[in-house]
Amino acid sequence: MFDTARWSVLAPLLQAATAGRDLLDDTIRRLTPEAVTQVVLAEIGDVKPDVRLELHFDGETTSHLNTANELVVALHLTDVVRVLFGTEERWPSLAVRTPAGDLDADPRTWFAARNGIGQEVDALLSALKAPQQDLGSLAVAFGSDKWGDLHWYTQHYERHFARLRTEPVRVLEIGIGGYADPDRGGASLKMWQRYFRRGLVHGLDISPKTVSGPRIMTIQGDQSDAGFLDELGRRLGPFDVVIDDGSHLNEHVRISFHALFPHVRPGGLYVVEDLQTAYWPRWGGHPEAAEGTSTGMLKSFVDGLNHAEVRDPRGGGSYTERNISGISFHHNIAFVEKGLNAEEGGPEFLRTLN
Ligand SMILES: C[S@@+](CC[C@H](N)C(=O)[O-])C[C@H]1O[C@@H](n2cnc3c(N)ncnc32)[C@H](O)[C@@H]1O
Repeated sequence: MFDTARWSVLAPLLQAATAGRDLLDDTIRRLTPEAVTQVVLAEIGDVKPDVRLELHFDGETTSHLNTANELVVALHLTDVVRVLFGTEERWPSLAVRTPAGDLDADPRTWFAARNGIGQEVDALLSALKAPQQDLGSLAVAFGSDKWGDLHWYTQHYERHFARLRTEPVRVLEIGIGGYADPDRGGASLKMWQRYFRRGLVHGLDISPKTVSGPRIMTIQGDQSDAGFLDELGRRLGPFDVVIDDGSHLNEHVRISFHALFPHVRPGGLYVVEDLQTAYWPRWGGHPEAAEGTSTGMLKSFVDGLNHAEVRDPRGGGSYTERNISGISFHHNIAFVEKGLNAEEGGPEFLRTLN
C-alpha cells in the first residue's frame, strides 16, 4: 500500500544536491549514474527537445533523448543535479556541438538549415532549470482552486512556505481532487511538485487516482482512519508539510490532525483548508465553531500556546500544547507550526498579584 522503495534514489539525491561536489559525486556513485540519469530524464518529462543530451560522469559518456541527433548538448551529470535540485544558477561547464550540414551548399542555405538550433538547446536547458513562478501563477497554470474562483489561499501559502521552498521537503496533501473519477484531480499535487523543486509530494484520496509525476506519489485511503494515517506517517514521513484539503467534515479534520501532527517534523507546518465548514451544521459544524468542530480544535490550541500560564508553569502539558509553537488564521485557512513550546510560565507572585 505504501511504495516506500519509490524514493530510494530520489530522497538521498535531493538531500545531496546542495552538498559540496565531492559529497554529491560520492552520492551519485553510490546510487549509480544510471539511476540518477533516470531521475534527470523523468524531470525533463514531456518536454522532448530535438537534441542529443550527452551526460559525462567519472570519464564515462552516455547519450539520451534523441540519441541519433547531431545537435548535442554535453553536460556533467553532477552539474545537472546541482542545477535541477540544488542552488547552482549557471552551467559551470556546457558544450554544444551542432550538425555539420551540407558543406557544399550555398552559405545562405547552410545557415538557413540551422534555424531553430538555439530554441532546441534552450528548451532542454529550461526543462532542467524551470523558472521560479509564484504560487498564484502555478495554481492557475495547473488548474488548482487554491487561487481563483472560491479560494484565494496561495498568498498565505507563499508567506508560510517561503523558507521551505528550496528545501528537500516531504509534503502530504489529503484530498487529490476529482472525487470518484480516477482520471481527474491532481492539480495541487502538480503545483506543489513545481513549487518545491526538491520536494517529494504525496497525495491521499479515498478514491484511486491515476495522476503521476516524477516526484508525486498517490495513496488511496480514508482520512478518518487514524490507524491507517499513523502507519502512513511512519512509512512515508516525517513530513515538513501536511495539508488537509479532503472531505472537510469536522470529525475527519480532527481525526486527521491528531493522527498526523506527530508525523510533522519540528519546524514543519500542518495546514487546514476550508474552515468555513466549522460553522455549517451539515458538515458537523456549529454556528459558533464550538468545541468538537475543526476551528474549535484550532481555537483550543491558542490556549495551549499559553498552557504554562494556566497550569504547571514549569513543564507538563499535552502533546499539542508542548509541540505547537504558533498558529496563523486567515479567511477559511489556518497554519499550525510545529516547534518547541517549552518556555516557562510567569512567576507565581505575578499570577496572584492584587
Ligand atoms: C477539494 S478536493 C481536493 C482538491 C485538491 N487538493 C486541489 O487543490 O486540487 C477533495 C478530495 O478529497 C477526497 N476525499 C473525500 N473524503 C475523503 C476521505 N474521507 N479521505 C480521503 N480523501 C477524501 C475527495 O475524493 C476529493 O477528491
